[in-house]
Amino acid sequence: MVRIACVDGDGIGPELMDSAREVLRAAAELDGLEIVFGSEPGGAGTYLETGEPLAPGALERFRDEYDAVLKGPVGLPEVRKPDGTEAGVLGGVLRNGLDTYANVRPVRLLPGVPGTAERIDYVLVRENTEGLYLSRGSGVRNERAASDQLLMTRVGVERVVRFAFETARERAGAPADGVRRVTCVDKSNVLRSFAFFRDVFDEVAAEYPDVEADHRYTDAAAHDLVADPGRFDVLVTENFVGDMLSDLGAATVGGLGTCPAANIGAGTAYFEPAHGSAPAIAGQDRANPTSQVLSAVLLLEHLGHSATAKRITAAVESAYADGAIRLDGGSPERGTEAAAAAVVDRL
Ligand code: IPM
Ligand code: MN
Repeated sequence: MVRIACVDGDGIGPELMDSAREVLRAAAELDGLEIVFGSEPGGAGTYLETGEPLAPGALERFRDEYDAVLKGPVGLPEVRKPDGTEAGVLGGVLRNGLDTYANVRPVRLLPGVPGTAERIDYVLVRENTEGLYLSRGSGVRNERAASDQLLMTRVGVERVVRFAFETARERAGAPADGVRRVTCVDKSNVLRSFAFFRDVFDEVAAEYPDVEADHRYTDAAAHDLVADPGRFDVLVTENFVGDMLSDLGAATVGGLGTCPAANIGAGTAYFEPAHGSAPAIAGQDRANPTSQVLSAVLLLEHLGHSATAKRITAAVESAYADGAIRLDGGSPERGTEAAAAAVVDRL
């Protein structure tokens, strides 16, 4: 039995989550897998109603009563503090509250989708609990200046780098040349914190002689992820850099609508699209549910239900190959419900 806590989120979140639940239910039934869905409110809407982005005790319930969390996109543009930052950000509460230190963002070109290269299949591992984001809520700002502080700790860097090497060993995909590698993305030529990140990376890399240790400065990584993405296998980087590069990677494979993410911690994990809640198109049956469905696939893989995960992945790929889900400026030519039905048909 798999117990999944569902946080539907804001904007297009509920309709994406409906699609993901529909696909999960259908696939689980075919495989004789029992899935129980629970529901927890969360996001900017919840914050507006209650002053908190999650209900009391939700983090404990996620840890103790569920196997994993499936979350829709969250955030609303009007939910801002006077300093301009987002108020009640669920991501911060979940990532730090559950200590999900690895944000895993696979970037993979689906059949029939025009990408910037013929074959794109790599995993970006974004450090998820420190780096520049640790400054969230504690930066300073006045009329004339503002500052945020970036922090890297040995424990924080070591665990995420180790996670990246383990991912390179285990993952199914491989780069075009077949060499398993982890690329450390940093700005160690300019910033001490990133030089520290690279040194810790090199120390951990020595424990994985079977995986090639590779390095790129952040700017060169941005270039190569567009110009020569086929060489990448697993990348590991700091939180803020990872935030940018995962959107950049998404743009090379047809946009954010196909990009899932896993937030993995030692005790618990949650799964969500890599994109935002797109309130402008909410409730119009226009959002592409692929990112949410593939997030559910990551959840199943994480819990060891690889046969059901593969079944859904194959169905998504076949729906793309047949042109049943087509991207049209970031939204599918066919609607959300039709896209989910196309996947269910092909399970
Ligand atoms: C992401 C998002 C979040 C982030 C936002 C919504 C706070 O962009 O998950 O990439 O910056 O981490
Ligand atoms: Mn982002």
